[in-house]
Amino acid sequence: MLTVALPKGRIAEETLEIFETIFDEKFVFEDRKLILEKGDFRFLLVRNQDVPSYVLYGSADLGVVGLDVLEEKGLDLVRLLDLGIGKCKVCIGMKNEDELDLTKPEITVASKMENIAKRYFESKAMAVNVIKLYGSIELAPLVGLSDAIVDIVETGTTMKQNGLKVVETIMESSAHLIANKNSFISKKKEILELYEKIQEHIGK
Ligand code: PRP
Repeated sequence: MLTVALPKGRIAEETLEIFETIFDEKFVFEDRKLILEKGDFRFLLVRNQDVPSYVLYGSADLGVVGLDVLEEKGLDLVRLLDLGIGKCKVCIGMKNEDELDLTKPEITVASKMENIAKRYFESKAMAVNVIKLYGSIELAPLVGLSDAIVDIVETGTTMKQNGLKVVETIMESSAHLIANKNSFISKKKEILELYEKIQEHIGK
């Protein structure tokens, strides 16, 4: 039995579609249920940022999660495969009329991704004050809470509709299949079988 933690929403659906094609079976969560058991698999529906915890502590053997979340958390997990779904970028955004001046001594940034934001500006030798927010990040520079934001950009619509622009792309992200280190040893055969099927399916 392999337990797989999936992030709620589009990535969960797209991941289950991959499983449906590979195993030629329907993999659908009933209504508000958070566990789906199907043959040799058990799927858990969790929040995006929570996927690494379920895998790290071994409640799930495998997980599907964005590279942005992995980079932010920096946990000791096995990165197995880039699934090529859930593509987005982590970008620095500012008001249309502002410019990013990396020669300034310090900057205030609003972000859900404190570590990625800190690392980027520190690598530019700028002192950075990161204000941690949990959503609607685009609002922060509009009301003077921060000079800039570090946030996910998918279509770019949210920034555009709020008078913001991308001034720098920090990293590109997509959903990755990850494994718990112990599971990767104790269930290596099952995990590699699945890995190969998925790899074949996504054409890598
Ligand atoms: C994410 C992100 C941006 C938006 C970007 O937020 O934080 O706000 O999506 O998408 P776009 O480039 O396609 O407009 P999410 O929808 O996860 O909501 P949140 O603000 O509650 O985190």
